[in-house]
Amino acid sequence: LFTECEHICIVACGTAMHAGLVAQALVKSILHMHIEVQMASEFMYSDPVIDEKTLVIAVSQSGETIDTLEAMKYAKNRGAKCLAIINVKGSSIARESDYVLYTNAGPEIAVASTKAYTTQLAVFYLIVARMAHSRGVFDDAQTQSFVRELQRTPEVMKKVLERRRDIHVVAKKVLGAKDLFMIGRGLDYSILLEGSLKLKEVSYIHSEAYASGELKHGPIALITQDTPVVATVTQEKLMSKELSNIKEVKSRGADVVVFIKESIVGDLAKEYEIFTLPDMQDEFMVLPASVALQLLAYYVSSDKGFDVDKPRNLAKVVTVE
Ligand code: AGP
Repeated sequence: LFTECEHICIVACGTAMHAGLVAQALVKSILHMHIEVQMASEFMYSDPVIDEKTLVIAVSQSGETIDTLEAMKYAKNRGAKCLAIINVKGSSIARESDYVLYTNAGPEIAVASTKAYTTQLAVFYLIVARMAHSRGVFDDAQTQSFVRELQRTPEVMKKVLERRRDIHVVAKKVLGAKDLFMIGRGLDYSILLEGSLKLKEVSYIHSEAYASGELKHGPIALITQDTPVVATVTQEKLMSKELSNIKEVKSRGADVVVFIKESIVGDLAKEYEIFTLPDMQDEFMVLPASVALQLLAYYVSSDKGFDVDKPRNLAKVVTVE
């Protein structure tokens, strides 16, 4: 499956789609393969180019999201091979798929997907390692080193959890916000799309994640005095560009908090409020960053007195198209 496919299409919704965006970045940078991520609800109406050389990966915590199930059926009817990354065993998408990888996250009851997201990421890292090895991109040593970095995740996430009080302090700064921007580039942008969805769905703050380079093409008109902005800086190759975008919004009066990889902080703390993220190799920094942003959303919601597990208007499983 992993050696014959010529391009990959990930279909999912919401948080599961955001996990797909991280996988997309890894597949392009490590495997140099064509890959696209499609919102499942858009997939069938976008005339997708699907054939027997396409590997469709359907990602779903519940395995019952109707948009994702229908998208996978559509792809199968056009000859694609389908792999499902699922948390709930024996669910509809799992049964419909040619292959299934279970995330084994245990039952996720809260509407906002958290451990399902991080375990979807873990499965994607393993898929990339396996594909890289079977396609000759990684030799044995490179594959082992990649997987060893993934195995550091529990200790790294524990370090973030140990500093949750600092995140609670950041949360108190944005409690009253009506609008909030999250800005970053590349993988940082993918991380923030998920962090922004978490904040929206449990605290009801209108949070927008923007690729920070895009701000100057219009959205910066919305940044005024004290506009809260959350930035992530975890990709060393993008750091200088991201810092200049942060300077840009700061010069317009934004109140900025930067979640930054520990080893590249330098003297940034002199200029901005920062939260340092424990180090992993850049392509793994999504993992500690996502826990920090999940905690941010949790504290804002609980300090506002909302039911973090059962946000208004939202269902845990969306079974209507
Ligand atoms: C995530 O916090 C949301 N609850 C929602 O976006 C969810 O990820 C989406 O509905 C997909 O659900 P699934 O993973 O069960 O398919």
